[in-house]
Amino acid sequence: MIKKTSAMKNRNTKILVPFILLITVIFLSFTKVLNEDYIATSVISPIEIPEDVKAVLDNKCMGCHSNDAKGGKSKMKMNFDKFTNGDYSTGKTISKLGKITKILNKNKMPPKKFLDKYPDKKLTEEESKLLLNWASKESTILKKE
Ligand code: HEC
Repeated sequence: MIKKTSAMKNRNTKILVPFILLITVIFLSFTKVLNEDYIATSVISPIEIPEDVKAVLDNKCMGCHSNDAKGGKSKMKMNFDKFTNGDYSTGKTISKLGKITKILNKNKMPPKKFLDKYPDKKLTEEESKLLLNWASKESTILKKE
């Protein structure tokens, strides 16, 4: 049997150490990429809602879609307070802005039943356009961040 001399052990370590270092570097660069992806989706940057948009939301939407709203379902699905207080992640904000665009294009909000009772809460054409422009602009900004 050949006994390993200390010189042989030394040579092995000389090869092994750089090899382990190389693997570690490769591994770390991968985890860094993954981490950056993760951070990108979990980052929170509350947005500021412009005054004119806020005025429309206050008057026509917040009654059902704010922290103070009574309805459970409407508040759960859309809460405009969460856009500005940091409760929605950036990803969630983008997704909610997309939902806003969708329901406005279909004239789905405020709900028809509600409008039968309170016709003055219907969005005017200008108001709808204002909200649509805001949702689209804000979404583009957030996607670039
Ligand atoms: C009378 C209460 C009421 C008012 C006023 C109201 N909503 Fe809603 N909204 C609801 C309810 C209830 C739902 C849930 C509908 C469902 O899922 O069946 C909803 C759902 C939504 C959704 C869909 C959310 C999702 O994740 O699918 C959006 C977007 C929305 N509302 C935006 C608005 C906007 C914008 C306004 C103002 C122009 C508004 N709503 C006014 C009650 C209201």
